[in-house]
Amino acid sequence: MTFKHLFLSAAVACVLCGCSSADRQKRADDKFVENLVSEMTLEEKIGQLNQLSTYYVAEYMRDEIVSGRVGSILNEVNPETINAMQRMAVEESRLGIPLLFARDVIHGFRTIFPIPLGQAATFDPELVELGARVAAEEATSCGIRWTFSPMVDVSRDARWGRIAESSGEDVLLNARMGAATVRGYQGDMRRDNPTVMAACVKHYAGYGASEGGRDYNTTSIPARQLRNVYLPPFKAAVDAGAMTLMTSFNDIDGIPATGNRHLLTDILREEWDFEGVVVTDWNSAAEMIAHGYVVDKKDAAEKALNAGVDMDMSSRAFVDHLAELLDEGRVSMSRIDDAVRNVLRLKLELGLFDNPYADTALVNATVYDPEHLAAAEKCAGESAILLKNENALLPLNAKKCRRLLVTGPMADAPWEQLGTWTFDGEESHTVTPLDALREKFGKDVEIIYRPVLEVSRSRATRAQLDALTSVARGCDAVAVFVGEEAILSGEAHCLADISLRGSQSDQIKAARRSGKPVVTVVMTGRPMTIAVEADNSDALLYVFHPGTMGGPAIADILFGEVVPSGKLPVSLPAMVGQMPLYYSRNMTGRPASGTETLVDGIAPKAGQTSLGCTSYYLDAGFGPLFPFGYGLSYTTFEYGVPETDRQSYGKGDVITATVELKNTGSCKGVEVAQLYVRDLVGSVIRPVRELKDFKRVELAAGESRTLRFSLPVSELAFCGADMCHKVEAGEFQLWISGDSASGEPVRFTIE
Ligand code: BGC
Repeated sequence: MTFKHLFLSAAVACVLCGCSSADRQKRADDKFVENLVSEMTLEEKIGQLNQLSTYYVAEYMRDEIVSGRVGSILNEVNPETINAMQRMAVEESRLGIPLLFARDVIHGFRTIFPIPLGQAATFDPELVELGARVAAEEATSCGIRWTFSPMVDVSRDARWGRIAESSGEDVLLNARMGAATVRGYQGDMRRDNPTVMAACVKHYAGYGASEGGRDYNTTSIPARQLRNVYLPPFKAAVDAGAMTLMTSFNDIDGIPATGNRHLLTDILREEWDFEGVVVTDWNSAAEMIAHGYVVDKKDAAEKALNAGVDMDMSSRAFVDHLAELLDEGRVSMSRIDDAVRNVLRLKLELGLFDNPYADTALVNATVYDPEHLAAAEKCAGESAILLKNENALLPLNAKKCRRLLVTGPMADAPWEQLGTWTFDGEESHTVTPLDALREKFGKDVEIIYRPVLEVSRSRATRAQLDALTSVARGCDAVAVFVGEEAILSGEAHCLADISLRGSQSDQIKAARRSGKPVVTVVMTGRPMTIAVEADNSDALLYVFHPGTMGGPAIADILFGEVVPSGKLPVSLPAMVGQMPLYYSRNMTGRPASGTETLVDGIAPKAGQTSLGCTSYYLDAGFGPLFPFGYGLSYTTFEYGVPETDRQSYGKGDVITATVELKNTGSCKGVEVAQLYVRDLVGSVIRPVRELKDFKRVELAAGESRTLRFSLPVSELAFCGADMCHKVEAGEFQLWISGDSASGEPVRFTIE
């Protein structure tokens, strides 16, 4: 009898016993997995816990696959090769257990969506879910059934390159976008649906707190902050059904995440009931040697498995040492069996035992499907954030702006606009702003292109800049595309200086000297310090690397075919020294008032305490250049003062909060209304504001609407002085506003 037959007979037995279909399925699965585990040799079991990269060519891997010494392969994307390897596993290995193919499909497979930080700027979880679905359909057509995404690391330091891959600084935004992404990849979860791709929520945990914004660095996260800030997005992704989770590279308080039993077992398995697969990050088991936490790879395998890791990505620590460790009694058979069960259950839930092969005929019909491109364009459009628009320069009017000068290193940089983590994106399919401006508006508007700088780091001579000024004089407006290339953000790509590099700032000044209106479009993988450039521009559009269809999305915004609606998912700093910078901070005992004296205003021989002794920088002041949640539209919105349906609530109640929102401008627009709260006095200090909900609302010119939010009081719970997660009674403030720094609060009480 084959394993498929055993599976079917278990299912039949359950039908006979009359239990619910979910119960029946679970029993059948358990039985199938138990039968299989009981047939496996120790070597085959350990093999299931071993993930290897295809960097070893397929033939070389034959031996590993056929002997069952590998359970998952990452980085192979050729569907023919994937099927060939799968045939080795299914047809030539003793038990025929299928392989699981994995890849970093982070913001698209071939059709690339904006980087996750840009997707977060849409404040549109449904669109983010659609993006993940598109990615899953494209990647699974090649046989990739597991992606290492979403990354839900709360990221509050713009120097950290991986902020690009996050949903930014906010807990709720990371949680909502993470959960939406999981839903998108995993789809309907039907086993007969070959487009279901297992999500992997990462990097568990605290990676975003890498000290100084330097990748892989140590972190210092108090236990309460871990619970209140870093863990909730993981919990949300687990609750959304994430099938797998990845450990992080960093240590927390001296314990590397990959060897951290408290995180991986006490919290993840016991508190949250996570039943999926835990995989290490790339080589992170073995890297515990470099950390100085284990003596060798064998020690690493012991610590990782016992902490709760199921699968070892690429280090070979498990495959090389678990048998020996078992012999010596340092790891148990039951822990190995549990890990194997988790891996087999994952393969079963993905339908791989029934349908292990990719249908290669599907690939060409799936990648770059016009609907995929349309979704990517919509997402890029919603992700663009308008930060400044003096004298309503934007949108440009094609009837009046007859000659547009396009300049800057990012105007026609098809590879760079794809952003970090685009292993499978192709510049040949990418539409740049220059392409799109020419194609969409070139009939009415003469597009003059002078890049001046080849890449963001290039330098221009005075003569080149002067030449730019004189070309600009003959045009009606200038669009300067600046930013940073894809390689300057993402993993291991951290910066201590986050200002615009090369001569980009001078290029904006040169455009400015022409006296013509200047639109600056910043395309980057992180928040950058652009105070001077903002001053030198009439309009400023901030676009995190927007992906394949970034060009048409930006062109449409510049000419008003699309009205911008993106909001900052992260505070934009005035100076890099403000890092880490985030709105949801604790109040100091000496808060800045915003009227403090800055360096240039300090009188000679000013007295030691004459500046007021408040919490601010003498040069950067206190706040960001633009706050979290900020973003303009081509219309304007006015908020009333919010109201709550009652003044006081019990802990099981739901607060209904309403606000009047009016479109006071002259065109239709979408506003992201944001609901924030502050718990005024707690057993521990609570943040000055916390985002608790948001809505995208479309209003016609002149239209008003009463927005209604329902906020369960339970959402106000936090981990307090006693380390328990609960709501504390007392007074609260609630805002409904267009960003984290504006609005009038209403007060309410929790009894
Ligand atoms: C990254 C992970 C990624 C893995 C596999 C690591 O270096 O930290 O996010 O999923 O590589 O490529």
